[in-house]
Amino acid sequence: MNFLPGKRVLLGVTGGIAAYKSAELTRLLVKAGADVRVVMTDGAKAFVTPLTYQALSGNPVHHELLDETAEAGMGHIELAKWADRILIAPASANFIARLRQGMASDLLSTLCLASSAPILVAPAMNQQMWSNAQTQENVASLEQRGIHILGPDIGDQACGDFGAGRMLEPADLLQHLNLSFSSQLLGGLNVMITAGPTREAIDAVRFISNRSSGKMGFAIASAAREAGANVTLVTGPVSLQTPEGITRINVETAEQMGQCVLDQLADQHILIGSAAVADYVPSNSFQGKLKKSSQQLSIELTPTLDIMREVGGMTDRPFTVGFAAETDNIKTYAQEKRRSKNMDMIAANQVGVPESGFEVDTNSLDIYWANGEQHLALAHKTKIARQLVEVISRQYRENQGDNA
Ligand SMILES: Cc1cc2nc3c(=O)[nH]c(=O)nc-3n(C[C@H](O)[C@H](O)[C@H](O)COP(=O)(O)O)c2cc1C
Repeated sequence: MNFLPGKRVLLGVTGGIAAYKSAELTRLLVKAGADVRVVMTDGAKAFVTPLTYQALSGNPVHHELLDETAEAGMGHIELAKWADRILIAPASANFIARLRQGMASDLLSTLCLASSAPILVAPAMNQQMWSNAQTQENVASLEQRGIHILGPDIGDQACGDFGAGRMLEPADLLQHLNLSFSSQLLGGLNVMITAGPTREAIDAVRFISNRSSGKMGFAIASAAREAGANVTLVTGPVSLQTPEGITRINVETAEQMGQCVLDQLADQHILIGSAAVADYVPSNSFQGKLKKSSQQLSIELTPTLDIMREVGGMTDRPFTVGFAAETDNIKTYAQEKRRSKNMDMIAANQVGVPESGFEVDTNSLDIYWANGEQHLALAHKTKIARQLVEVISRQYRENQGDNA
């Protein structure tokens, strides 16, 4: 969802080589419907001319603090009050230090002090400058004060170095800014998400598992966090980094996952079960490693606990969202599964379709609830996750209204 139309964005540009990328950022912001005012430091003007931003934003560019003509127009306090958001991109090491100190030595730092708008900072600098203890301390202090630090990225740098310090791409910054306007969709709610596969031991070295990579569950965890939720991510074995600000609990088997979910359920407002939990576990796991032989081998399997069914059967349960992987008749099967397990919503993947479902980075989903449905067209799992979180938050609130 685009929250930017009509939003007043003060874009601060400071003196870094990435200033040229903010011209593209200005264009994207305007295209998304935002009202953009660019404020440049003297350093920034050495890299790109104000005229560039003026042409792209359609508004005069502000750069002088002690200037009577500028003050006679939109003065610095007025500009500070005008902004819904202040986005500083690129943010130089020097500017970050000034912001941390609470300086008011130039127009941009003064505006940051004088404004109550949320501030988002996109650092861009040489990797050594970024990893310098002083910069890290400055950034940590800003984060503590609630300033959002976006990035930086790791990669090749203009100076020839490689490392952390590249400014996030304009499209990513746009996305972050957009989300900052939607960030309270799940504000203050506790959300538990299960992700990844489980492993059921056959012997000491072999197990039964499935193709789940955990990517969808991890993307949902990130999106829920961005939407203001306190997120607990219960995950089977995957090779994915824990998204920032999330409590991660690692489990291996279906039994451990079930136990973990049930133990913590009482505190949760929403449960999203995206894990591909094994349906069967070997009845007897062999001690040690099973020796190879020419004989046929049968493994007896016992059904595992169906976590979502168990939760659905509880009288006092969180808002519950399940997942289904279907090959055909998606709507009929998914709705049937949702009803039989007493879940509030179900998100169905069509398996066997290229670029969708397990292992890949993209997905499409059909979401069903008692009296509605929504299709999410094929997109990167990050985007699908954000859209899914929007739908869940809407239905959760509707459901709360019904139960109030
Ligand atoms: C060619 C060149 C590129 C620079 N690139 C960066 C940069 O990417 N990030 C940074 O923090 N400083 C960079 N600097 C240093 C800043 O421009 C310098 O610290 C300046 O005082 C920043 O001013 P400002 O924070 O008021 O914009 C660069 C300097 C030069 C000469």
